[in-house]
Amino acid sequence: MAFPTETVYGLGANALDDEAVKKVYLAKGRPSDNPMIAHISSKDDLSQLTDKITEDTKKLMDAFWPGPLTMIVEAKPIVSRVTTGGLDTVGVRFPSNPVAMAMISAAGVPIAAPSANLSGKPSPTTFQHVFDDMDGRIDAIIEGSDCEVGIESTVIDMTGETPTILRPGIITKEDFEKVLGKEVLLDPALLEKPKLVKGEGLKVTTDDFKPKSPGMKYKHYAPNAEMIIYKGEKAKVEEAIKEEKAKREALGEKVEVIIFSDSDSKFAAHELFARLRESDKAGVDVILITALSETGVGFSVMNRMLKSAGYNVVIV
Ligand code: TXA
Ligand code: MG
Repeated sequence: MAFPTETVYGLGANALDDEAVKKVYLAKGRPSDNPMIAHISSKDDLSQLTDKITEDTKKLMDAFWPGPLTMIVEAKPIVSRVTTGGLDTVGVRFPSNPVAMAMISAAGVPIAAPSANLSGKPSPTTFQHVFDDMDGRIDAIIEGSDCEVGIESTVIDMTGETPTILRPGIITKEDFEKVLGKEVLLDPALLEKPKLVKGEGLKVTTDDFKPKSPGMKYKHYAPNAEMIIYKGEKAKVEEAIKEEKAKREALGEKVEVIIFSDSDSKFAAHELFARLRESDKAGVDVILITALSETGVGFSVMNRMLKSAGYNVVIV
């Protein structure tokens, strides 16, 4: 069953039940070594899933739960290894969306839930997005309001000496550091830029890309349309987009232009996946989109945007 959360819609099953979780992988068409997040409806529930709750984990839980934060902790044996993709760690999140909370609490068990999109597609941020991907593949969708955040939760690994961000989100490195009073790390894979090869724009390959969070290695968030990111000074970017648009339209292609602003990266987070899906629905051939600077929430939005575009970036 799919349900709304404050980040994106999720597709849920009992996180303690192998067979239930397998059905989720099937409905999404998702590789089964990509672990799912277990969703809980109170802070106390964390101790059902792990024996090891560190001081840092407590601090982050108190600061950011309920909310768009997933913490990776050691998993008790009770957690289905189908949920964890065979790992002995589990990602746990206590969402703040009241519908999600009510559903999890009514279920009485932790709910394993990936984003409710077909594997590879942009994550769904509205009921309609879920319906478009999942109609006929799942039993039910709980219709809620559109998701406020628009990108998935921040994933932070709490199992090591120093907390390490595996997936950036609306809660940033700086936010964690403020609460913990110490530096947290970024998984090096988040900073690794696939090789830039000068060609028509700058084409890149992802061959030597080895992220620690298994979910980060698959083709992700991709619209059907070709997508080109423009990076550089604002006026030059706008000029380059205008030129490319004219060129493509002269070839009879349908072009979508998406302009985001650094001064409102939260808006960009909210809009990105929805705009990609709208473009596909409208039969767009090519999406021309502006890059954000990679700081704060902009870093998280760029993480998704680069994957959506298959790292197709033009630097002007
Ligand atoms: O906002 C969200 O987190 C949404 C909503 C539904 O809660 N869920 C979501 O789930 O984005 P999913 O399955 O699409 O992404 C989970 C991410 C993947 O990148 C996965 O590899 C990573 O979390 N992950 C989960 N468990 C992990 C673990 N034990 N170790 C490392 N990474 C893990
Ligand atoms: Mg997902």
